[in-house]
Amino acid sequence: MTPRALFSAPPALWPLWRPHLLAAFAENGLDVTLTDDPSGEWTFDYIVYAPGGPVRDFTPFTRLKAVLSLWAGVETIVGTVPRELPLCRMVDSGLSRGMAEYVAAHVLRHHVGLDSHLRGQDGVWRNGVVPPLAPDRTVGVLGLGEIGRAVAATLALLGFEVRGWSRRQREIPGAETYAGEDGLAAVLSAADILVTLLPGTPDTADLLDARRLALLPAGAHLINPGRGTLVDDAALLDALDSGRLAHATLDVFRDEPLPPDHPFWSHPRVTVTPHVAAATRPETASLAIAENIRRGEAGAPFLHLVDRVAGY
Ligand SMILES: NC(=O)c1ccc[n+]([C@@H]2O[C@H](COP(=O)([O-])OP(=O)(O)OC[C@H]3O[C@@H](n4cnc5c(N)ncnc54)[C@H](OP(=O)(O)O)[C@@H]3O)[C@@H](O)[C@H]2O)c1
Repeated sequence: MTPRALFSAPPALWPLWRPHLLAAFAENGLDVTLTDDPSGEWTFDYIVYAPGGPVRDFTPFTRLKAVLSLWAGVETIVGTVPRELPLCRMVDSGLSRGMAEYVAAHVLRHHVGLDSHLRGQDGVWRNGVVPPLAPDRTVGVLGLGEIGRAVAATLALLGFEVRGWSRRQREIPGAETYAGEDGLAAVLSAADILVTLLPGTPDTADLLDARRLALLPAGAHLINPGRGTLVDDAALLDALDSGRLAHATLDVFRDEPLPPDHPFWSHPRVTVTPHVAAATRPETASLAIAENIRRGEAGAPFLHLVDRVAGY
């Protein structure tokens, strides 16, 4: 029987994704019925999912073989999808490359002191300061998953001294890697620039609290495109107000969209980007969805299954 897939995401995404998903199914030799109409819940084999679509409750979908997330971060549904049902997160070359480009841009902004030139267009010739070169600057990367590894590798290629941290010990060419609480302290205490690429889970909530932020070298920069819950907002604002932290570039927040009156918008040491660090691109990500449906139909193990205990 032809498998049926429901696209459940914000309605504006349907016309963008539909042609790429159909093309990816065809490329994989898959005959799949794809719709954005959720009626007849019991007839669907797969849900292609992003927050903001019609599906809130997965229990009426009694025939499902898997939920396939369009997003890398699954914290909004990991507690909702029944435990016995496979939940796969998005792993996509476009996502990793996009994040590597975003992080490289913001790291280089601070590294070469771009702001002082952008703000200083006042007729005064300030050319006295020679900035350090990349090997003299340490960048810490918290989270060495699909995306964190690509980011760490890109920064290492640029010549930065890279220290990475993850739950389990990982190896990355060109970077020193750490795990555990002592490892976290070793990364934080050296990081002139800190990049957070951890998932939002109970274990990572408020990971960067006042105590851990205080481990960063004076004048450090924070770049958080991971999740808003990783950072204690009040502790971050304190560290910025006191000048201990030079700047925070924040792409993700506890409440999104970030409310217009939130202090991050107007803070002189904060750059807000509206959750744009790395978008899932239909052209490449549709192939990842098709591959998992192919596997589901062939009885092969799904790729990128979420560990339901760890929550990512
Ligand atoms: N802003 C954006 O546009 C955007 C776009 C895409 C993704 N993201 C965010 O980026 C995150 C990372 O994506 P990914 O694909 O790289 O995820 P991933 O492959 O699941 O990797 C997660 C990494 O975090 C580590 N980790 C998880 N819990 C930890 C803990 N308690 N202590 C220490 N390390 C821990 C994991 O350690 P192990 O290696 O030991 O498992 C792994 O290295 C996503 O979850 C999402 O929140 C943001």
